[in-house]
Amino acid sequence: MTGEWWQENGFCNYLSILPVFHFSNATKVSLLPHPFPPPYSPPMTLQPSHSVFVTGHRGMVGSALVRALEKRGQRQIITASRSEVDLTRQQPVEDFISTKKPDVVIVAAAKVGGIHANSAYPAEFMYENLMIAANLIHAAHRAGVKRLLFLGSSCIYPREAPQPMPEDCLLTSPLEKTNEAYALAKIAGLKLCQHYRSQYGALFHSAMPTNLYGPGDNYHPENSHVIPGLIRRFHEAKASGASDVTIWGTGTPKREFLHVDDLASACLHLLAVENPPDWVNVGSSQEVTIGELAALIQEVVGFRGALRFDTTKPDGTPRKLLDVSLLGSFGWKARTPLRTGLDAAYADFKKAIEAAVVRD
Ligand SMILES: NC(=O)c1ccc[n+]([C@@H]2O[C@H](COP(=O)([O-])OP(=O)(O)OC[C@H]3O[C@@H](n4cnc5c(N)ncnc54)[C@H](OP(=O)(O)O)[C@@H]3O)[C@@H](O)[C@H]2O)c1
Repeated sequence: MTGEWWQENGFCNYLSILPVFHFSNATKVSLLPHPFPPPYSPPMTLQPSHSVFVTGHRGMVGSALVRALEKRGQRQIITASRSEVDLTRQQPVEDFISTKKPDVVIVAAAKVGGIHANSAYPAEFMYENLMIAANLIHAAHRAGVKRLLFLGSSCIYPREAPQPMPEDCLLTSPLEKTNEAYALAKIAGLKLCQHYRSQYGALFHSAMPTNLYGPGDNYHPENSHVIPGLIRRFHEAKASGASDVTIWGTGTPKREFLHVDDLASACLHLLAVENPPDWVNVGSSQEVTIGELAALIQEVVGFRGALRFDTTKPDGTPRKLLDVSLLGSFGWKARTPLRTGLDAAYADFKKAIEAAVVRD
């Protein structure tokens, strides 16, 4: 998967003379795709002295990354809210990155949502995620950013992928239709990193997380993911004294969940790997059925009514689990048990409700 030829063949040395070649032959060298490829130095690993631009720092993943970087003593963490830099717009992104000159960029900004949002707004999901990826990756390349980590998602893999899903099943058969637009934008981001890396030697690589949950999640009643959606529904059912909560399908499909602080830890771990694969799965290997998950959340919330299943509604894919052996070979594994993580997520939800800052 990883094209290491650029290291083995002294590609970095070649790049260091390339700008001179370009400037002196600017009009003649039309075959070369970019006029100012920066002279990338040999691969670097994340050090506390490096400046790190965390995009999407107000989101669930971005805020977990900021917490993890602060905890490890990162001296310069750069952030920008959407009102400061709209990442779907090329010029503001280029201006920001060329001014701030971060050593490392982490692409945790994205338009994110559950099945409903993905199938209702495919145009926005594809356009915004393509633009965010293209603008950040290209601007980072132009500014000579030393390392970039792009976050994708397990939905990049085919609908009929083998289970657990290994990295190399990418693009082997059709995608799941309901999130095809989002998945294609994420695949484009991953491939863009891979091509800037193989063509220019930029250390741009990707992580593909499974379903995430944790503090700062989005609790929108329709557009959220399964865990925050169920937390909200059970909480509201308990508050209103409802007799039951009905969930879609038979409850038998199996899913994997990862606490967002574990994801942040995996990202920092990957940024410390000298020559990481182009993309690596990040999962917990903790699989539960939707029925078991719902019962667990019901218990965490303390809802005493009945849990019902509407079996006339579709179930979706029977099983979705990432193969995490590649990441495991770099010495990382998830630490947070699902029950512990759900307790913390519900505590965070109640705190957000009390402070009237719940995201939806
Ligand atoms: N959540 C999951 O279960 C999950 C699973 C697998 C992979 N991932 C990946 O993890 C990454 C982060 O997801 P998340 O769950 O943290 O999402 P999130 O909570 O919705 O956060 C996304 C962040 O991106 C920012 N953003 C979106 N569009 C922007 C724009 N045009 N300009 C500037 N900022 C923009 C948002 O800013 P505002 O605060 O202004 O809205 C928000 O802070 C995504 O790449 C996603 O694909 C997530």
